[in-house]
Amino acid sequence: MDSDGVMAQLLSVEDLDVAVVALKAGDLVAFPTETVYGLGADASNGEAVAKIFTAKGRPAGHPLIVHIAGSEGLSRFGRDVSGDAFRLADAFWPGPLTIIVGRGDGVADEVTGGRSTVGLRVPDHPLALALLKGFDGGVAGPSANRFGAVSPTTARHVLDDLGHRIDVVLDGGPARVGVESTIVEATDDGVRLLRPGGISVVEIEAVLGRSVVDGREGESRAPGMLVSHYAPAATVELVDGAWLGAQTFGATQSVGVIAPFDHEHGASWRLPADAAGYAAGLYATLREADRAGVDRLFIVGPDDGPLCDAVLDRLVKASAPRP
Ligand code: TXA
Ligand code: MG
Repeated sequence: MDSDGVMAQLLSVEDLDVAVVALKAGDLVAFPTETVYGLGADASNGEAVAKIFTAKGRPAGHPLIVHIAGSEGLSRFGRDVSGDAFRLADAFWPGPLTIIVGRGDGVADEVTGGRSTVGLRVPDHPLALALLKGFDGGVAGPSANRFGAVSPTTARHVLDDLGHRIDVVLDGGPARVGVESTIVEATDDGVRLLRPGGISVVEIEAVLGRSVVDGREGESRAPGMLVSHYAPAATVELVDGAWLGAQTFGATQSVGVIAPFDHEHGASWRLPADAAGYAAGLYATLREADRAGVDRLFIVGPDDGPLCDAVLDRLVKASAPRP
């Protein structure tokens, strides 16, 4: 469990039972989802959930999402679930949407930091779904990275960050979406956006037939969403493509560029211009830039696409001043 612990077991689909047994025993199991890898523990076991915060170095008050196998989990782990919450679950689960509802039974205090609400999500990944069905319970899980750092999109990333701090990593290949789920709070008073992510607000509004309120400003609606987050070791500057095109940084290796076009530079990475393609490659590229020893990273965002909001949110947080 601590940083001197033995390396986590790397398991694939054939050894799913081992991962299920580990969850039941109160161990930490990192698992693939379509967004990013999660760091899972039995949501009903407060001691197991507490280990997540230790492994990540995450402050205890920050609530965790509970992953469930299907929509029936809304009534099992939620309470006073609104009609909108059921509609959104029907439309988008399995998928990258987390719905905050009243907290039901089987969710330990440690998961929600004592709050009366809980975030639920059915991940759209065959191995995650098989794990959740086999476990037959809720799995609390934040992204499987050290607190504040870049989320992992491969099993290798998880081992790099947390290998000596957790018990099991289930390898399900690279994450398809590449940025975290959209988080909405859905009460009888309406639907509020707390974090943009893999499902766009436009898609959500199309299902609801009315507008979603932006709940990101004002009092900290989604606790733990600090200004600086999703950050690589290099300092990040989010810049305009035209500005960047006019720069000549010289051949200094310590400056890097990530952009949706080629840039004449020693350390530069090109991502697709459409936001979905950009999102799928972003976190792995931030990690590559760190591995290349870049100190200062200039990033140009994607051009268009429904995932633009989510990608820009992460880039703004990666470029925010660090505590
Ligand atoms: O795609 C994802 O959502 C990934 C995968 C693993 O499912 N998970 C993830 O978890 O991004 P995490 O812990 O890195 O971010 C979850 C966020 C927290 O920052 C917290 O603010 C918010 O969800 N959250 C969880 N429960 C909440 C609640 N009851 N009320 C308000 N916000 C909540
Ligand atoms: Mg996270």
